[in-house]
Amino acid sequence: PLNIGDTASDQMQVYSTYEVIDDLVVPEGYRYSVISAWGDSVGDSRFGYNNDFVALIEAEMMSFLAVNFEYISGKTWMQTYPEVIGQSLPFAEVKTALASRGGEINAFALPKNNPLKQQIEAIAKEGLIDQGIGVISVSKNNDSWERTPLAQDRRITGISGLEDGRYLQATGAAVAIFEKVDKLGYDDQLQVRIIGTFQNCAGGTTPWGTILSAEENFQAQVPEPVMADGSSMDPSQQPFVLTDKKVDGRGNPFGLAGNKYGWMVEVDPANAQDYGTKHTWLGRYRHEAVAVRAVKGKPLAVYSGCDRRGGHLYKFVSQDNVYKVADKANSGLLEQGMLYGAKLNSDGTGQWIALNPDTAVDPVLPSQVVEDEGQGLVTLPNPDRQAGGIVKVTQDADAIALKKFKTLGDLYIGNAIEKQGAILIDAHFAANAAGVTCMARPEDTTVNDQGALFVAFTSGSPGGDGGPDKQIFTGPEGETPYEYGWIMKLEEDKRDPGSMTFRWAMIALGGEPADGGLGFSNPDNLEMDSNGNLWMVTDMSTSKHNQEIPSRTEDGEQVSQSNLRGLFGNNSAWVIPLSGPDSGKAVPFAIGPMECELCGLSLSSDQKSLFLAIQHPGETGGMRQDMAVETRQLVMRTTDGQEFTQQRQVPLGSNWP
Ligand code: FEO
Ligand code: CA
Ligand code: CA
Ligand code: CA
Repeated sequence: PLNIGDTASDQMQVYSTYEVIDDLVVPEGYRYSVISAWGDSVGDSRFGYNNDFVALIEAEMMSFLAVNFEYISGKTWMQTYPEVIGQSLPFAEVKTALASRGGEINAFALPKNNPLKQQIEAIAKEGLIDQGIGVISVSKNNDSWERTPLAQDRRITGISGLEDGRYLQATGAAVAIFEKVDKLGYDDQLQVRIIGTFQNCAGGTTPWGTILSAEENFQAQVPEPVMADGSSMDPSQQPFVLTDKKVDGRGNPFGLAGNKYGWMVEVDPANAQDYGTKHTWLGRYRHEAVAVRAVKGKPLAVYSGCDRRGGHLYKFVSQDNVYKVADKANSGLLEQGMLYGAKLNSDGTGQWIALNPDTAVDPVLPSQVVEDEGQGLVTLPNPDRQAGGIVKVTQDADAIALKKFKTLGDLYIGNAIEKQGAILIDAHFAANAAGVTCMARPEDTTVNDQGALFVAFTSGSPGGDGGPDKQIFTGPEGETPYEYGWIMKLEEDKRDPGSMTFRWAMIALGGEPADGGLGFSNPDNLEMDSNGNLWMVTDMSTSKHNQEIPSRTEDGEQVSQSNLRGLFGNNSAWVIPLSGPDSGKAVPFAIGPMECELCGLSLSSDQKSLFLAIQHPGETGGMRQDMAVETRQLVMRTTDGQEFTQQRQVPLGSNWP
């Protein structure tokens, strides 16, 4: 190692540099191998793009990896598509045609034989095929897991059903809305059938051998807002967009209805005929992931966070009790129950608030919203719902108008089941109206053997969508906003999955050790190992990697915090011991290549293998094996003499830190 000496930083010293590398770095004694990559063949389709969730489902005869393909990084996807897929798409032609229209068009409205429509459909289709869910069979040979394809290997894509009849199914109260085509404006003619799944971020496994895949940022492809007349679900409200950086609105050319995305999808990897079921009782919002708790003789509890600024934490509780924990019939428990949102009190207690037509509209909320305008902005269902549309409550008039309504049911039209269906479709806004706590972008959720829930909050910065509750989401010195993230532990009272009250505490804090954090930034996916250690991967946005002082969030908001240093290198994997001598620490395990997000985190049952997804490596600058990148070891000392050591990857020659 080359000693480059002390730096000018007051609290940090750089001791040495290591070799130049743009790769996944694992500790000594570990090695990694690539199991599958974009473009590899999977059944009659291909391994998709930007894999996020990875789950190993082990069984005696065969094991499966279920993988989510979240989205496409427009720029890199367009540049590398021909060489990976072996065919060309008319990107340049469509870009030129759209240039005079600001890069977007309602291709849905174009006549079928219009050449531009056909070109757009070809691009949208490939982008949708690269999203969704994949099932690949794997087995362990000589201590290494590798693909051993079986008949179950298949893709569920963003266009499953469009041409092949492999529609996804739906259950739950929102089906009443899907089937009520006469009064709801836009009608996709499919009733309960659904074309495809996309923007599949993280997910979870069930004790009965299925996986749940979370549809997150569906608003990039189809319309998100809800209106009483259904017109907001009309695909023409979300036009097809193609610029140098983006390919969005891919649902538009095919007329995909907005209310059929943003759900949780259950798939049985072992059943080759299963192309997925969207369980609408779990709510429609920007689902990040899911954690399932099944206790014999108790109702099933399913937790999930909505990853948006000011998004909520939800729990579904089944109507019936679990009889056998590992029984595949438990899927049926997801078909009837109730959805709740978490209200956190600053004293460490909390309640679950039912999202049903009888729930009271929070009488306090509208005035808080008005005071908080711009920072803690909360979007509520349109108080004048019968006229259609959702408004952002930013004016006194809106807040006062909302007070006319006593219950959530008053905000929606239809009979009781239709109102319930509309609340599930509009879950985020209904939860806002019910006074559910606005959070700091809740990402992954996982439960331990004792039934405690762990939630990663990735970022406390506010944005156009709103921001977190400032009483709850504070930094080590009470700072708000606090960007670096938290991990929370939530324990149901009496450990009862169906409990309506709970206790919560933040157990790990992101940020520089010198500032009171544990050394990571922006926690995202979580996994428990069999010793009760919490594994975590980080997701700093690429623009914040290896940089000195980012002053704006992804949404372009000014960050007021003075101590944002951006010194966290590349995204990384960590172990957080929850008991024993190291509890309270966070130990770095692996560092990802340049410009990637580390996702997945699935441990084999023998705890010897860890499955990771390396999402969007080189997403703006391309892979840089030949570019000079170095790993530097930092020794940081706090002012009271405590020492912390970390490795970080930085571009060679950068003057970091
Ligand atoms: Fe797709 Fe919230 O991560
Ligand atoms: Ca991601
Ligand atoms: Ca995530
Ligand atoms: Ca994230």
